[in-house]
Amino acid sequence: MLNIAMLGSGKGSNAQAIMDAIAAKKLDACIVCVIADVADAFILERARQHGAPAFFVDCAPFKTKLAGAAEQHVLEILRQHGTDVIALAGFMRIIKGGLLAAYPQRIINIHPALLPAFPGVESWKQALDYGTKVAGCTVHFVDAGTDTGPIIVQRVVPVLAGDTPEMLHARIQVQEHEAYPEALRLIASGRLQIKGRRVLQL
Ligand code: GRF
Repeated sequence: MLNIAMLGSGKGSNAQAIMDAIAAKKLDACIVCVIADVADAFILERARQHGAPAFFVDCAPFKTKLAGAAEQHVLEILRQHGTDVIALAGFMRIIKGGLLAAYPQRIINIHPALLPAFPGVESWKQALDYGTKVAGCTVHFVDAGTDTGPIIVQRVVPVLAGDTPEMLHARIQVQEHEAYPEALRLIASGRLQIKGRRVLQL
């Protein structure tokens, strides 16, 4: 069984999708802890409802990264709970060297775009402004770059005439909720291998 720790900052709909997949026995895994950098993030409430340990970690004075004492605190929690894999879901901070070194090729993220297009924030809005005809989401391993790690799963959605950013993001999120459990199932199977930039299934 795969021991998953989740890190988030917001509403936690991806965390919910993963918890639902576990409850429905569609994913052989356990959420060992959920950590948020925002005290009242709804992802923490979802964790409690699922029966998973929920932690707020104050990441001040840093605004955009997980570093210093906060990074140490997160590492402590992760170790105490026997984490195999860290799943980032809407965690609005850059992961730095300490965590990457402690969990090499064991941190994954979901990004609301078809990487390598539109890294960074509000990617669905970037896609809409650019005028692409398709958009989507990507689950990828986290490396030292921003949204640059090897890709595990991608899902595509159409961009429709009359879409607002909110409408497009909502359509992408429906696919995110399928893609994230799927990526974790692949990892739990133990059959994934990273070769250069490519993630292969043995
Ligand atoms: C998702 O769109 C995800 O792709 C991005 O942040 C959002 C998190 O949503 N990284 P939620 O908190 O899981 O609902």
